[in-house]
Amino acid sequence: MQKIPNIPFHRPVIGSEELAATQRVLESGWITTGNECTLLERECAEALKARFAVSLSSATAGLHVAIKLGNLPQHSRIAVSTLTFAACGHVIIQAGHIPLFVDIAPDSFHMDPKLLEAHIIRYRNTDHPVSSIMCVHYAGEPRYIDEYAGLATQYGLWLIEDAAHCAPLTNKEHSYPKKDVAVFSFYATKPMTSAEGGLLCTNEEQPYIHAKILRSHGISQETWTRYKKESSAYDVVSDGYKYNLSDVHAAIARAQLLKQHTLLKARERIANEYTALFTDGEGIILPNPVHPVHAWHLFVIRIVSKNISRDTLMKTLAKAGIQTSIHFRPLHHHSYFSHYVKDTLPYADKLADEILSLPIYPGLSHKDIEYIVDTTKKALAE
Ligand SMILES: Cc1ncc(COP(=O)(O)O)c(C=O)c1O
Repeated sequence: MQKIPNIPFHRPVIGSEELAATQRVLESGWITTGNECTLLERECAEALKARFAVSLSSATAGLHVAIKLGNLPQHSRIAVSTLTFAACGHVIIQAGHIPLFVDIAPDSFHMDPKLLEAHIIRYRNTDHPVSSIMCVHYAGEPRYIDEYAGLATQYGLWLIEDAAHCAPLTNKEHSYPKKDVAVFSFYATKPMTSAEGGLLCTNEEQPYIHAKILRSHGISQETWTRYKKESSAYDVVSDGYKYNLSDVHAAIARAQLLKQHTLLKARERIANEYTALFTDGEGIILPNPVHPVHAWHLFVIRIVSKNISRDTLMKTLAKAGIQTSIHFRPLHHHSYFSHYVKDTLPYADKLADEILSLPIYPGLSHKDIEYIVDTTKKALAE
């Protein structure tokens, strides 16, 4: 009997560099936020060509902090694409704001800038105006970033870039943040990982100082500084959270940072192979990025076949040993977020039944890709 392959949705690239980095920190006598985090922040800021970077326990933490840094009016609205992860909706509500879930633009996976502007104008003279835009660089493509930044400048809004899917941090054609703050994720499945972790970058000093205080219980001096005996006293100067990154995680992130371009090249190879092997239009729509920068964190195809639904195809692929995923069930489809939505969001509603994320990670071989494509094509043809 032929053995069924086992192709997971994701497999991180962990080599001897990450193992050595972890061991180095574990044996050092200091394993939480300290020198490794400082070095990671310095190296990331340099890679980003941003003035400041702050390491955090997750991108979720980073997005929460990013909202707080805007000093936004209480109960104001924060506009965000509905096609995103739950973290975005949660942090908006947790920070005392109202999520404004915006539909995506036709033929994209990104918040529609035209609709966004209509919402900004619609709520302008209400008790709950739009005060901030949280734009999601879906799959790692910062599409419409110039439009979002233009609107943020025109209407005086705080721009938070959810760059959780983005790596490398260095790109010739794009720099983060475009305006105020950008937040990256180092979660296990992300293009650059430290198992868990996040990073916020900004070019302004005040938000940088504030972010460091917020991530450490609102305390003016972090434990590492006190440990180094620079000062034993500390003061709680603001509200705050337990959002710091450990040095163990920072060391893994530093090892990954050195590989960021190699990791991207591997994902680009896979995206190119998928694109060459699939036939656009025969029951599927392939991704059509327009921005020159793309992290290829996700390779999302749309199933528009008359023969098979996305859900049945997903089950067929699972039976054939191919694990796939969905990014995302739109937030307004979830019971907790649904009552924040007044309008219909037709493009996201349609995409919700069509999108399918295929495996894309450096360990995927050409043979794996051929098998994924052949199995998908067969299922579409049946
Ligand atoms: C678009 C988006 N934003 C934020 C997050 C949260 O990232 P983290 O797991 O680092 O908190 C994710 C995680 O999957 C995400 O996909």
